[in-house]
Amino acid sequence: MRTWRIGLVGVGRGSGYGSVFARDPRCTVTACCDADEQALARFQSELGLADGDCFTSYDDFIGADVDIVFIGTPIPYHAEQTIKAVESGKHVLCEVTAASTIEDCARIVAAVRRSGMAYMLAENCCYWPFVRQWREMVQAGRLGEIIYAECEYVHDIRPLIVDPVTGTKRWRAHRAPLHYCSHSLGPILDITADRIVRACGVGTSSKLLGIPEAGGIDFQVALFETEKGAVIKLLRSSCVPRHPALHFYSLQGTGGFVESSKRGVPGEGLLYVEKEMETAQSLPVDIVDQSLPAHAGEGGHGTAEYALVRAFLSALESGQKPPLDEVRAMDLTVPGLVAHQSAMEHGRWLDVPYLG
Ligand SMILES: NC(=O)c1ccc[n+]([C@@H]2O[C@H](COP(=O)([O-])OP(=O)(O)OC[C@H]3O[C@@H](n4cnc5c(N)ncnc54)[C@H](O)[C@@H]3O)[C@@H](O)[C@H]2O)c1
Repeated sequence: MRTWRIGLVGVGRGSGYGSVFARDPRCTVTACCDADEQALARFQSELGLADGDCFTSYDDFIGADVDIVFIGTPIPYHAEQTIKAVESGKHVLCEVTAASTIEDCARIVAAVRRSGMAYMLAENCCYWPFVRQWREMVQAGRLGEIIYAECEYVHDIRPLIVDPVTGTKRWRAHRAPLHYCSHSLGPILDITADRIVRACGVGTSSKLLGIPEAGGIDFQVALFETEKGAVIKLLRSSCVPRHPALHFYSLQGTGGFVESSKRGVPGEGLLYVEKEMETAQSLPVDIVDQSLPAHAGEGGHGTAEYALVRAFLSALESGQKPPLDEVRAMDLTVPGLVAHQSAMEHGRWLDVPYLG
């Protein structure tokens, strides 16, 4: 059995994924990087690494002896760090979303292709067990043809946009709500095996944070048209007061519908299959896969991170493309970039480029 040497960048998300990799007998965490010295010291003590394996400079880190780089830094750094990693012969597992601009998304695709290394977007929501169950149900045709879907991600993280003590704007102050679309679109597109071809967005008010940057927009709504002819509606906000945070998913087919709870996931959803039942029945919407080992919850978000790492490593070991490879990553990232652009142009419908 080969051992994968793992390098982690960015404490926080790197800590969660670090614990999953460290638990896997096929992996050993051999290096870490964080630009902030205090954060790096925390990372180092979590991972028990020697001083020489811990770096504040990404350029020094990328010279370390690792096979896989996990990138858990703010989105504006993803493109540059991904490109440097694959050009140094490392496979990459990168946090969401892939990048902040379409140009950077295209640069990532080109660099991954040139390098022959593997890239996967760490879209953990695709690895909730209910997503797999719904995918099986939809792909078996129980709901007929999917013609409409809704998804919502409403998470009040105002302190992560503007520091409440100092008033300093953080990197999320420049991230439009719709830019962070993959937690919502990922599961929907995964279940339907579809991709988005056109987008339109609305939402420019900034009453809550009162800052002019895109990250201060209260909420945005996008409509998307897919290659298979379905319509998807997405609601995104990082500002509006709503607790607990909400992930919501709903699919309407020609033969029935399935949806999660408006209280979020996990929860009790609804399923209606026209040929099988008189009216909708309640349906558990689980984020913990009980068939996995007890420690599978340590990565966070139910058992999503554990299942995602397992899928990534399986792909590497079998020489297959990872499930959310560089092209699929852009299917989950670019529609939000385009929809925000549309919102800036009064909701004009725009084509979503395919980067494959
Ligand atoms: N999948 C999920 O559920 C989920 C949840 C939260 C955040 N995220 C994603 O994780 C990523 C990180 O988000 P966060 O909230 O942890 O960010 P953050 O602002 O807390 O930064 C994470 C760490 O990266 C370090 N860092 C910043 N720039 C760096 C650089 N150039 N090189 C090395 N280290 C650097 C910071 O010092 C910090 O310790 C983002 O892509 C975000 O979208 C995903």
